[in-house]
Amino acid sequence: MTSGLFISFEGGDGAGKSTQLARLGDWIEQATTREVVRTREPGGTAVGRTLREVLLHGQDLGPRAEALLFAADRAHHVDSLIRPALERGAVVLTDRYLDSSVAYQAGGRTLPPQEVEHLSLWATEHLLPRVTVLLDLDPVHLAARVAVDPDRLEREELEFHVRTRQAFLDRAAAEPRRWLVVDAARPKDDIAEEIRDHVAPLMEAAR
Ligand code: TYD
Repeated sequence: MTSGLFISFEGGDGAGKSTQLARLGDWIEQATTREVVRTREPGGTAVGRTLREVLLHGQDLGPRAEALLFAADRAHHVDSLIRPALERGAVVLTDRYLDSSVAYQAGGRTLPPQEVEHLSLWATEHLLPRVTVLLDLDPVHLAARVAVDPDRLEREELEFHVRTRQAFLDRAAAEPRRWLVVDAARPKDDIAEEIRDHVAPLMEAAR
């Protein structure tokens, strides 16, 4: 379908996804002639930024409404930004994607995981990343790294974040060909190198 390469970054709040995404993007641009598109969920599009405000800083929502809004953000993100970029042959790096919904809305909020996954697969017409990098960190450490003004999900109790982490790890174990699990407690340079080593061989193949 596409000649691009789709990579997602997942993990708990404050595990260092954005830093590692930026570093990988810079490296790809420097080492190749590929177009790199950096994006995120929720809020990778203009509509998505409105949904992000509602989801992270709006009134409390029930788990189903929350899951539907994340899926709506994702549907529009894929349709208007990710798929066109992949069709142009770009490397698309996204800070969070479908696995965040399964980890947070199923693992965290305890909705049935298969239903949450199917909702996102429907929303994205089954577009999955070639690689998903999990920056894995014990939520005890995550707490220390989150912002001064935590959003609706960051405010959840530790148990919520423990379930979320476990959901990510379970998904990674079930689909090892797609996932790269990285210990996010290691030095940033080492992590960047590990991710680069994993992605480098795919750059040629995807061209
Ligand atoms: P964000 O501000 O992007 O930062 P960080 O990834 O560093 O936490 O946070 C987005 C929040 O939304 C985060 O707490 C995870 C949550 N989220 C979901 O619950 N479900 C989803 O499908 C996505 C994409 C994010």
